Amino acid sequence: MSLRRIISRGQIRRRLKELAANIRADYSGQRPVFVCVLKGAFVFLADLVRQVDLPLEMDFIVASSYGMGKTSKGQITVLKDITTDISGRHVILVDDIIDSGLTIQHLREHLTNRRPASLRLCALLARERVLESGTVVEYLGFSVPEGFVVGYGIDYAEQHRELPDIYVIEDE
Ligand code: IMP
Ligand code: MG
Repeated sequence: MSLRRIISRGQIRRRLKELAANIRADYSGQRPVFVCVLKGAFVFLADLVRQVDLPLEMDFIVASSYGMGKTSKGQITVLKDITTDISGRHVILVDDIIDSGLTIQHLREHLTNRRPASLRLCALLARERVLESGTVVEYLGFSVPEGFVVGYGIDYAEQHRELPDIYVIEDE
């Protein structure tokens, strides 16, 4: 198993600057609540919120994960919920990578039930496939082809989250 770098820290930094500027323009005069999907999105959230330059709030949610495997089990549950009352608030859901889109679909419904004023999705990465099939990601870092991705907060079996760049795992 080896790692091939697909997105550098420099590319991430430049793209986040653009995303932050878009968010700043769209939410000017508001105080959005960023809901970070743990664990994978924590590095992305930390870098993003420091560039948005608006008053904002943060909360964290944990959905059932892939465990130690590489494929989705299809059944998603909320393991740790947010504590913020988001009714009437502008919410930005922040995730690391949208693969099948199932997790985010479940979390969107889960949060929509609390009647936020608005709810948008911000993801560092999304599969080209899921974007083509109509999943809307209002703030997207990069679209990525198939292949298991790690680094910049994203893990494989809890490994490689600490890497500053983004890699794809290749089986030799
Ligand atoms: P989905 O429900 O299939 O969209 O999968 C969503 C979650 O699975 C993501 O938020 C990640 O935590 C995890 N995941 C999906 N693809 C990858 C990958 O390539 N590397 C690491 N985690 C992944
Ligand atoms: Mg995730």
